[in-house]
Amino acid sequence: MENLNIITKHLVPFISEEEIASQEPVIMQHLEAMHARTGRGSDFLGWLNLPSSVTGEELERITRLASEWKEEIDLLVVVGIGGSYLGAKCVIEALSHTFSHLIMPGQYPLVLFAGQNLSEDYMVDLLELLDHMSYGIVVISKSGTTTEPAIAFRILKNHLEEREGIETARKRIIAITDRSKGALRQMAGKEGYTTFVIPDDIGGRYSVLTPVGLIPIAMAGFDIKNLVKGAQRMEELTGPDTAFPHNPAARYAAARNALYRKGKTTEILVNYQPKLHFFSEWWKQLFGESEGKEGKGIFPASVDFTTDLHSLGQYIQEGLRNIFETVISVKEPENKLVIPRDKNNLDQLNYLAGKRIDEVNKMAEMGALIAHIDGGVPNISIEIERISEYSLGQLIYFFEKACAVSGYALGVNPFDQPGVEAYKKNMFALLGKPGFEKEGQELWKRLK
Ligand code: PA5
Repeated sequence: MENLNIITKHLVPFISEEEIASQEPVIMQHLEAMHARTGRGSDFLGWLNLPSSVTGEELERITRLASEWKEEIDLLVVVGIGGSYLGAKCVIEALSHTFSHLIMPGQYPLVLFAGQNLSEDYMVDLLELLDHMSYGIVVISKSGTTTEPAIAFRILKNHLEEREGIETARKRIIAITDRSKGALRQMAGKEGYTTFVIPDDIGGRYSVLTPVGLIPIAMAGFDIKNLVKGAQRMEELTGPDTAFPHNPAARYAAARNALYRKGKTTEILVNYQPKLHFFSEWWKQLFGESEGKEGKGIFPASVDFTTDLHSLGQYIQEGLRNIFETVISVKEPENKLVIPRDKNNLDQLNYLAGKRIDEVNKMAEMGALIAHIDGGVPNISIEIERISEYSLGQLIYFFEKACAVSGYALGVNPFDQPGVEAYKKNMFALLGKPGFEKEGQELWKRLK
């Protein structure tokens, strides 16, 4: 199976190969520090050797559970937010039939998500759907105390218990949380739920290859062994013992760092396959939370092309010149569909007759590449053969590694997220949570 391929040659009008290569010493030094566990946040490096340390038995246990549950339920609600949501969501979306929610029942349960927002309408719509379904719940929270999933879980648990009775409901709930701390761990113990552990040394956005991602992905019917195998391959290829020119994570981190130093402060992740939309959402969390701190960091944005070529394409072509693009380029789609010949040719499309839609997509990709370069937007391409468990595993680990090295090169701790606490504190104060009374008074004064 092919490895992902990173192409930096289209950066040359903006930064030279020498400029990228000049980053080598610093990038390789950070990579070594990461592997020697001497860099910042090194108590959060559990993801680093995770692909090679996941055991066959663990994967087998999860796969077995998934085949048992598929006999019991039509729908699975995965409750979580941020790193406890996006990894599973992005892999499931990338691998599923685009309209899977309309063609149920499938062989495996349809996976839906909750607890990733505070929208009352979302929750009411979901409950309406669940009224007619046989379903189970996987609730995921490392801290076990995050407000959004905690509220969603309380409501869903009540709904499931009312529908199925307490005993059956208990058997249809899996909790994935900290080994010992947090409200969810306590509740799971009391209620007797099946539980899985999120290791202490793995932060939310690096947790997709733990049960956090693996359980929902397996439940949706996808091959978690190949996902992990892809990640293992990238683990082999991105260590400090792989020389810089052959090390994709080091090269990508070096290119980003060189671009940032030249004022390219926004990176847009581009896809030409809408199934990768949520992959970009996962990527944005990974890079945004890892790099955006201490007044520094590249802003991670994303677009789905060609859709967004008809909207944001204008800005990319001619707006503020502080952006660069990283394109995930998929060589071969899963399906083939040829544009038919039409005898009247009223739409004047016969020049495309006999071509696959993907050929047109590829020409759009190349056309946009050249147009954007001409417009002053540097381009990095990351090629994968096809969208599969294996290639997604590669992409996930590749980006995790590149993100961590990039954070080190930027001089920040890529494994913390102190900035996400500010809104929570204010929300608790405004809601009158015990212990936040004084802050609440101050905030209400400011809001009046
Ligand atoms: O990456 C992170 O740490 C965050 O996005 C968390 O995953 C998110 O806030 C959810 O936290 P928890 O799993 O503790 O509910």
